[in-house]
Amino acid sequence: MKSLLIVYHSQSGTSAQLAHAAWRGARREVGIEVTAMRAWDAGTVDLKRANGVLLVMAENSGALCGTMKDFLDRTFYPAIAQGLIVPYALLISAGNDGRGARKQAERILSGYPFPAATEPLIVRGQFCVAHGLASGELGQAFAAGLSMGIF
Ligand SMILES: Cc1cc2nc3c(=O)[nH]c(=O)nc-3n(C[C@H](O)[C@H](O)[C@H](O)COP(=O)(O)O)c2cc1C
Repeated sequence: MKSLLIVYHSQSGTSAQLAHAAWRGARREVGIEVTAMRAWDAGTVDLKRANGVLLVMAENSGALCGTMKDFLDRTFYPAIAQGLIVPYALLISAGNDGRGARKQAERILSGYPFPAATEPLIVRGQFCVAHGLASGELGQAFAAGLSMGIF
């Protein structure tokens, strides 16, 4: 069975709501195991088990939030050493921007190197129904792509 790992960090709860919506969307696909983990609990062993990884985080001070950066810092060399190639997607929560987090994440992930499975989704402001729907669609599309062997 294919496996989708959702790694998230959330300070206020907003990114956690996005991650939960993506998790619900991904679980609509049959034949895919979907696991959600906080970034500080996740490591290389979890990436190794996954066929795809969805990273959900905020932009903080024009960059990736620190805990997601820590996850990437911890897994970077071990993933390279083990030859891991895991397709990824980004779901970014931002106040009014998000481009800094996107750019930094894409730059780091190109070094693993992990391929992007989809265009990043950036949602701005408080969590709302539209954000939940978009996150759910992203999760489901990623899971469907994994199930069909597209990624
Ligand atoms: C310390 C801090 C820095 C932030 N910097 C940015 C920023 O540079 N650009 C932006 O669009 N939003 C910024 N925000 C807003 C957050 O990205 C936004 O509130 C997000 O939804 C937070 O998600 P979380 O609380 O689930 O981690 C910042 C928030 C905090 C607390």
